[in-house]
Amino acid sequence: MSRIVVFSGGDVGPWRVRDIRAICGEPLPEVGRLLMTEGEPAGAASWRLRGAISNARYATRSEVTTLAQLQPALARPLASQAVLIPIRKSPAWWALAQDERRAIFEETSHHTRIGLTTLPAVARRLHHSRDLDERFDFLTWFEFAPEHEADFWAMTSRLRATREWDYVEAEVELRLALE
Ligand code: HEM
Repeated sequence: MSRIVVFSGGDVGPWRVRDIRAICGEPLPEVGRLLMTEGEPAGAASWRLRGAISNARYATRSEVTTLAQLQPALARPLASQAVLIPIRKSPAWWALAQDERRAIFEETSHHTRIGLTTLPAVARRLHHSRDLDERFDFLTWFEFAPEHEADFWAMTSRLRATREWDYVEAEVELRLALE
């Protein structure tokens, strides 16, 4: 299995793009379908975003343990909705030290605590893109059943109101359905 995951926007792939919008920063060109592959796909695409499945940076032992207990796997048959949110953080974020970033991420913004409120309904995977010279730093991926969509967006609104998001300079939201 490749640790590089490629998201290809274009005419092919199992995910229909219901909506694509820039929350802040530059947009991504509109496409009809999305394909997620581990490793490089064949064929054409309007755009591709690449990210690596990597180790955790900020989660403590007890958070890792809680997440491992609650996090469902990707590709559950019931999870017919997905969301891809590419994010780039500002130079000010990257100029901080690791302990300062952790403090903003969790002690101030409660990112994990807020996110955990939607588990186990939401499956997630974080991909790191910054060191691959990509236009975004992170590609965040979520899957859930339609009845959990409202809870997912309520949680996302809470995250976007935190201090961590003061450091987000580009964010695009793709709402997807398996159809
Ligand atoms: C990172 C949990 C939802 C964007 C993380 C990390 C955890 C986490 C534990 C830190 C990983 C590490 O230690 O390196 C969750 C949970 C969620 C959730 C349980 C609920 C489904 C979201 C949403 C977004 C998001 C909705 C986007 C709107 C990010 C980003 C990072 C991250 C960009 C990387 C932050 C950085 O390294 O600076 N998340 N999250 N997360 N999450 Fe979430």
